This record gives sequence, C-alpha cells and structure tokens, in this order.
Amino acid sequence: MYQGPASKVPARAQGGPRFTRAPPPPAGYSSPVLSTVLVTGANRGIGLELSRQLTARGDVVIATCRRPSEDLDRTGARVIEGVDVTEAAGLAALTDAVGDERLDVLINNAGILTRETIPDLGGPGPGGFDRIRRQLEVNSLGPLRVTCALLGNLGEGGKVAIVTSRMGSLGDNTSGARYGYRMSKAAVNMAGVSLAHDLRPRGIAVALLHPGFVATEMTGGMGNYGPDEAARLLIERVDGMTLATSGTFWHASGEVLPW
Ligand SMILES: NC(=O)c1ccc[n+]([C@@H]2O[C@H](COP(=O)([O-])OP(=O)(O)OC[C@H]3O[C@@H](n4cnc5c(N)ncnc54)[C@H](OP(=O)(O)O)[C@@H]3O)[C@@H](O)[C@H]2O)c1
Repeated sequence: MYQGPASKVPARAQGGPRFTRAPPPPAGYSSPVLSTVLVTGANRGIGLELSRQLTARGDVVIATCRRPSEDLDRTGARVIEGVDVTEAAGLAALTDAVGDERLDVLINNAGILTRETIPDLGGPGPGGFDRIRRQLEVNSLGPLRVTCALLGNLGEGGKVAIVTSRMGSLGDNTSGARYGYRMSKAAVNMAGVSLAHDLRPRGIAVALLHPGFVATEMTGGMGNYGPDEAARLLIERVDGMTLATSGTFWHASGEVLPW
C-alpha cells in the first residue's frame, strides 16, 4: 500500500510504472443494461475515470465535484459542481440538481488521505487529531450523508457502491500508522454493512469496494495500475452487485477482503 508522502509528480516522472489510457470502446459497444449513475469526487482520479468509462459505454452519468475540471467536462457527463460531501450546502446543491430523477447506481468515491504517526499525535498542537477528524468527515460521514440524501432517488434494484480501502480492514492491518485513513475507512465499512441490512427490504444492494493501489494524486502518482484499470475493475464489480451479496467488502479484482 501507499507509504510515501503525497506529491504531484506524475508516476512517469518518478520513474514509476507507465500507464496507458483504456482504448475507446469498439463501435457499437454498449453496456448490457444502461443505467443512470451518480459518481462523487469525479473531477480527477478514479472518479474521473469512472465517469469517462461509464459515459463511453452509454450510461447516463451525473458527476459531482467541488470544482469541475476540463477532463471531466470532456467526458460528456452531466456535472454538478459545489458538492462538498461534508457540507450541508453541498448536499443541498446535490439534491436540488438531481431533483426526483431516478438513479440506478450511486458510487460514493470522494475521499482524502493524510498521514498521522504517533509522534504527530503526541505533539503539542491538535494537528494530527484535526486531520483524523477531517478524514472521518469526508471518508466515513460523507458517503453516509450522500447516500441518505439520495435514498429517495434509488428504488428497487438500485445499487450503492462505496469506494473504501483495504487500509480500513482490521484483519489486513499488518503495518500500523495511517490512523485517520484507516479509522475512517473502517468506519465507512461498518456504515456500508448497516446500509446493506437497512436497504435490503427496499431492494437496494450495497458494496464496499477497494480499488487496488492506484496511481492518482492521492498516492503521489504511485500505484500498481492507473485509474483506467481501477475504474474498469470497479465497474465490473458494480455491474455484478446483487442483493444476495449485499454488504460484501470486495477488492476490485473480485477477491473478497477480510474485515
Ligand atoms: N488511489 C488509491 O490507491 C486508493 C486506494 C484505496 C482507496 N482509494 C479510494 O478511492 C477514492 C478515490 O481516490 P483517488 O485515488 O481517485 O484520489 P484523488 O485523485 O485524490 O481524488 C479524490 C477525489 O475526492 C474528492 N474530494 C476530496 N474531498 C472531498 C470533499 N470534501 N467533498 C467532495 N469531494 C471531495 C476530490 O475532489 P477535489 O479535487 O475537490 O479535492 C477528488 O475528486 C477515495 O475514496 C480513496 O480513499 C484510493
């Protein structure tokens, strides 16, 4: 998993792995079932690539962000800006823009990662604890807030995917540290399991999805693959979501991860 401090140097400039963008879909290609999909945190990284690939295969994509990007505008997704998942105003902008439109899939992708170590947390200022609190706001409460705000738009057969991390797995924590990120992703995993129970009677499936170690700004450009491959695998998992497997914690590769 990611170990170094964040940097905006692209992987290629660091001598890291090269990534190529997924080729455009062949002419005539279309999704098996066209859907309306809402993706949060869509202006860059994995969310951008999800929006690009879903739009390319013919799904209607509602892409939310705090600030749009030219890359996102080019996807052809319908962009809703001003959606900070921690703020009431952001949620209001979201629900106003979506109105009573029916959503088939909600992908809670927005997230942040900061670094807290024992020395940070033992220091004189609140710094490390403030960063932990912020990660809980964005990574744990954000997906729950957005899901609850849009529940009226999801009906029988709907899907809620939460992009979490295996760094939130208690069973998989073999290296410690990353207090805020690990705690926030463990908490959202728990929220996801509760949502799976609570939404089952409404016919809505929930999945906790780890995208893999992906070269984005979050990882300082380091990763085992690029956002194009991560998005391709995540879309496969979302397509395969069912009520029977609702509440499962998946690696994007299809492996079931330990809690
Ligand atoms: N990359 C990996 O290896 C990896 C591994 C495991 C899990 N994940 C998870 O995958 C998801 C996407 O990560 P990424 O790698 O694509 O990271 P990224 O490139 O840093 O993108 C993060 C996205 O989240 C948005 N965001 C951050 N704070 C927000 C807020 N308060 N409200 C709304 N949007 C906010 C960002 O928007 P701004 O541009 O406005 O900041 C950006 O669109 C995250 O949930 C992350 O935890 C990533």
